[in-house]
Parts: sequence; C-alpha cells; structure tokens
Amino acid sequence: MKKLFLLALLIGLSINVSAQNVSVSKARFQRGDDPNWAKPELNDASWSEIDMTRNWDKQGYVINQGYGWYRVHLKLSSSMIKGADQQKIVVFNLPKADDTDECYLNGKLIGKTGRMPGDKGGYRSAWSTVRNYPVNVKDGIIRWDADNVIAIRVYNAGEPGGLFDNPLTVRVPNAIEGLSMHFTDVNDGQAHCDVQLSNSYPLTTTGKLDIDITDRETGKKIGGLSKKLSPKQGKPIRLSVPYDKKKICLLTATFTDAKTGKKISQKFPLKYILTPPAPAAPRFNGAPLFGVRPNSPVIYRFPVSGERPMKFTADNLPEGLTLSESDGVLSGKIRRPGNLTFTVTAENAKGKASQEFTLKVGDRMIALTPPMGWNSWNCWALSVSQEKVMSSAQALIDKGLADYGYCYMNIDDGWEAAERNPDGTIAVNEKFPSMKALGDWLHERGLKFGIYSSPGDFTCGGYLGSIDHEKQDAESYNSWGIDYLKYDWCGYSRAHAKERDKGVASYVRPYLLMQQFLREQPRDIFYSLCQYGMAKVWEWGPFVDANSWRTTGDINDTWGSMYDIGFQRQAGLAPYAAPGHWNDPDMLIVGKVGWSSNLRDSRLTPDEQYTHITLWTLLASNMLIGCDIAQMDDFTVGLLCNHEVNLINQDILGKQADRVLKQGDIEVWARPLADGGTAIGIFNVGDEDQQVDMKALYSDIAKAKTVRDLWRQKNLSAGELNCTIPTHGCRYLKVTL
Ligand code: GLA
Repeated sequence: MKKLFLLALLIGLSINVSAQNVSVSKARFQRGDDPNWAKPELNDASWSEIDMTRNWDKQGYVINQGYGWYRVHLKLSSSMIKGADQQKIVVFNLPKADDTDECYLNGKLIGKTGRMPGDKGGYRSAWSTVRNYPVNVKDGIIRWDADNVIAIRVYNAGEPGGLFDNPLTVRVPNAIEGLSMHFTDVNDGQAHCDVQLSNSYPLTTTGKLDIDITDRETGKKIGGLSKKLSPKQGKPIRLSVPYDKKKICLLTATFTDAKTGKKISQKFPLKYILTPPAPAAPRFNGAPLFGVRPNSPVIYRFPVSGERPMKFTADNLPEGLTLSESDGVLSGKIRRPGNLTFTVTAENAKGKASQEFTLKVGDRMIALTPPMGWNSWNCWALSVSQEKVMSSAQALIDKGLADYGYCYMNIDDGWEAAERNPDGTIAVNEKFPSMKALGDWLHERGLKFGIYSSPGDFTCGGYLGSIDHEKQDAESYNSWGIDYLKYDWCGYSRAHAKERDKGVASYVRPYLLMQQFLREQPRDIFYSLCQYGMAKVWEWGPFVDANSWRTTGDINDTWGSMYDIGFQRQAGLAPYAAPGHWNDPDMLIVGKVGWSSNLRDSRLTPDEQYTHITLWTLLASNMLIGCDIAQMDDFTVGLLCNHEVNLINQDILGKQADRVLKQGDIEVWARPLADGGTAIGIFNVGDEDQQVDMKALYSDIAKAKTVRDLWRQKNLSAGELNCTIPTHGCRYLKVTL
C-alpha cells in the first residue's frame, strides 16, 4: 500500500484506495491520436497532467472533432481480490466521456462506448453513458502488484470534450452488483407486469427471485411468484406476472444471491383502473351545450357511450341542422344568433337515453367548454404524418374516446414544406399528401381538425412560420377545413427583438393580426395562443379573442415538470378563465409519449397520472391527449374516459379551480360547479404516503350532504373519508351541500 502511495506521489496522481476499490482522478494527457499510445511500454513522462473529472476544454485544451489520450499508471494490489465475494472479474469504471471512448488495459482493448467517426455505422455520441468495463481475471491482462497502464482514447465532436464527472475507479464488484431489474406494465386485456432481470457482468450469479404483489389498500399479498434463476450476461430473463388491474397493487421484486445472501430489491407501483366500465345501454357523456357563430358550419359529435349499433334521433331539431342517425353527428348552419334547445335520443339493443341540448349561436359563443381532443406533439413531435393523425383519429373512435367528447385532432409542428408556393401560399411537406382530404375525412366522422403555426419566420421546430403571410395562411386553413389554430410565438422572438418598445402591445400585436384574418373566415377556428405566459397573457388573451393561452413553457412526463406547471404556476389564474377563454397548462402526458418516432410509456407513476388528470380537469384546462391513441392501453383509456371526471372539466359554469388550502404536503384545489356542487381535489405532493382525514381538512367536506368519489363514481360514507393518499396521488371529490 505504501508503495502505491509513493508511486502516486511520484507521477503526480491522486489515488484513493480501499480494500476492493481504487480511485484516480489525475492522468497524463496528450492531444492527437496514435495507436502506439495504447502500449504500456510507451514513455509518457513528457505528457501533461490532466484532471479526468473536468472536461478538457475547462483545462485549456480545445479539441473539437478530434482526439485526445489519457494514460494512468496504477499498481493493483492482489489483496483487492482476496476475500471478495467473487474472484472472477474486476471492473474498470471510467469517467464519462464527451463523446466516445476506447479503453486499453496494458495494451488490450477492454471496453468502448459510442462510435468513433471511422466506425461501422458512423459516429455516435454516448457522452452521458456510465462506463463499466469488466475484465476477466483469468485472461491475465491485469498485472497484480505491478504497474498497470490504462490508456483511454477519447473522441470529441463538439465542446465540451474529454473525460468528466467521476474519477476512474477500479473495483472488485460483489456478486449481485451487475444485476438490474426492469419492469414493463402491460395493461391490456389480462394485465401483467413483465419483470426483466439482467446481468451486465460476466459472472454467473445463482439465486432466487421473489415477486410479491400486494394490495396497497389492505397491505395484503394477493399474488406473485418465486423462482430460482441464474442470470447471465447478455441473456436477460423475463418473467410475466399477472395482476388484477382493478386493485391498487404494488409489485416488489427481490433477488437473493444463494452464496452470499446479498439482495437487490425494487418496488414498482402497478397501473390500476378506478373508472367503472360504462354500461352497455346508451349514456350521454358530454356537456348539454355547444356553441357556434352564425353561419359557421356546425360540427358536433354527440359523445354517447354504449354498445353499437346505436340510433340517434332528435325532437324539435332546429331548421338548418341535421343529425346523422348512425353516429350522432350534428351538422348544418344557423343564420341567426340565439339559443336553440332540442332533445337528442340515443337507442341501442340494451336501452335508450336522452339529453336536452342547447345550441348557442352567437358571435362570442365558441369554446364554451374547454377543447377536448388530441395533439401530435408529445408523441410524434416533428415525425408527425397524415397517416399517424388518421391512425390516432380512427383509434379515438374505435377505443371509444370520441364517446367521451374528445374530438379535436390537432397537427402540431412538422407539417410545413421547406418553401412556400410561388404565389406565397403555405405548402405542406411530403408527409401530408392532402390537408383538404384529411379535413374532409375527419369532418365526415364528426371530428375536428387543428393545425399549428407561428407568427414568426420560423416555428420552434425550424419550419416555416406565418410572418407576412397571415392572411394567406388563414385562407389556406379555411380551404382545408381547419377548426383550431395553435399559434406559437417561438420564431417571432427575432421580430420582437427589433421592437423599440417591448411593452404589452408588442406581445399582443402578432396575435391580434392573425385573429383578424381568422375571423374573416366563414368557419369557427379555435384560437390557441402559445407564448408560454409572457406579458401575463391571461390578462389580455380575451381581448385578442383567444380561446386559450398557454400559461407556461413545455411540459414533459416527469413529476417535476407536471408539479411545477400544474400546481406552482396555475395557482392564482382562476379569475382569468371563463367560457370561451381558458388557461392552458399544456397537453396531457399520459399513454405512450416520446417527442419522436420512438415512443415509450409515460414516466409518470400511475398515482401521478391520476393527479395529472384530476388537476387538469379541475383547472378547466384544454384536454389534449398527447400520446399515440392506437397504442393506448386500458389504464389510459380509464384515465381519459371517466365521464364524471370529464364533466368537471366541461362544467358549463366555466370556473377554474384554485388552491384553497395548503397544509404541509397536502394541497386542496376546488372549483364551483353549475349545479351548485363543488369539485375538490386533495393532493399529496410530498414524497411519503399520508393519512388524511378529509372531513377535518376542509370544512365543505364536513358539511356536505353527499360526498362523491368521482374516479370510483360512488358516494362515500363518513367512515371512508379518512384515507391514505399515496405519494404524488390524490382523491377527487364532488360535494353537495
Ligand atoms: C413549442 C411549443 C410546443 C410545440 C413545439 C413545436 O415548444 O411550446 O408545444 O408546439 O414548439 O415545435
């Protein structure tokens, strides 16, 4: 050990040594590239000293699209391996590398991460990857109790470059260190969770995997399995564990190494469905009204669940309107302003239901309840195509989401061509063969068609914006049958930078301009402002006749993002929402999302997803689904298709919830409803489960005649008002005094 420290002092390295662990942060360094630099016998005494935990550009070396080599001399004591759990492998854990690396031990390549420019398949960065390179002791590469040379070749594409983050550590891992577990919760038909056990080290570890499924409400074990396994490198083992998706379950997986008794254990909350299944008989799930401007086409699909075929009829249907018998799509035009009330009946083999419905016709009558539908951004981002929009629209109908009021199908960024047509009109790219045909196809099904642009020269995704072409673009939208425009500030920041006076008027101007042209079109176009809440858009949004305005930056599928946007940044905005004009805390992040052509399950836990939908419906937010509907599972359908929950969002009083109480990690948000009731969300935003006496928490609950659990669609007894709210979870109540 003494010798090791002396060596470290001699060559100017800092070394930390413990029994099975050696750490080094300093190395010798040379810019450039030469295969001879991997050789242990090379004399590197003239190389400079460098810190491997900080990028090389921070230490005076600017190397872009080029190479640098690090060399570390290290004496490895044979005592490291003696007495360890296993004597087969030693792991060389490298610092992270901007952008790719190759690692040589005593002249032999022991690991590589990312691809160098000359490699097959071309360069690929792997700057954020953890580098653990196992070396088999049997291979004899390690020189015990002698000088070892670790040479690391690094390629950097662009600043920052070189090794960074953690020191180089040489470790003798214990028997289970290379094991990892991965869970995939498949929530279709028979729900099951696939548990994958992998071993990243060339060690055979034999042991037992115990999987327990416990009911989180009762604490009782209700399922699971036990199996003896030997996970090997490169051969992950997959086990499928069925569970009851109607129960709130926790899966706990524990692997115990037979030899040492060491364990790895992980908990995974499973998806659960609280929404009761819809009855087979017809049920109207939408608000009892819809608004349209005089002479604009009416497009309204009655949201009715129940078995198909179904027959729709109307009593006293106003002149100028037709109702399609087979799918309940209302169409036509009304010339004069006024309220037209009529009764619609839906009938199928299992029964019959009716709704008294009012069509409100007037200049300011659109968006009387928040828009419900889909937007392509959170799933496909710039890889959106006409085919993907149609597939999601078809799934919206087939999976029954249209029966709950979801109707807008909105294309976000990525549809525009690189250049405008010679006459200045906007052109679409090859992924959209025909906007007009797509619009017609959607309208035939009673769905609505949305599009995206920017008041600037370019959109956020770098596509063409509408600047200087606002009138032409509004006319194109009309000719395609557009019903919704999301108008995203983004590229307008360049025009705005040139404004001398950057007061509120400079923020209003581009939005007012487009609104004038939209209003000239002979159809209703929902106007959605997207400028992230600048210049308190909620204060002036109604005056540019906006139907909604984003209040924050972009959401992503993490608790941090959802908490910040939904809880922190919406408090206090309630007074600005009203029928026709809504605060928009951004689109939904449930289901398969990914902002690319690679989709994955939302990273929100099931409890967080219940919180998300509860809060967004309370906030009278736009309800725009952000996932691929074709791949939507039963859990997500349950989240989005609870008519009692959705009817809070669609409540015709149009009052947004505000935070009425914050007690430690418990927040209460409440909104008054048109029928005199109050919708109340009780949220646990903390990291621990909490016992909550809901009656004691909020006086309206104590005073209430009825307390309804909206997710479970049942009234609660006094005894049920004391409950545990899981971390990041909630309870959603409607109380009637
Ligand atoms: C901005 C918006 C997003 C999305 C992208 C498209 O980031 O806030 O919602 O529309 O632009 O490029």
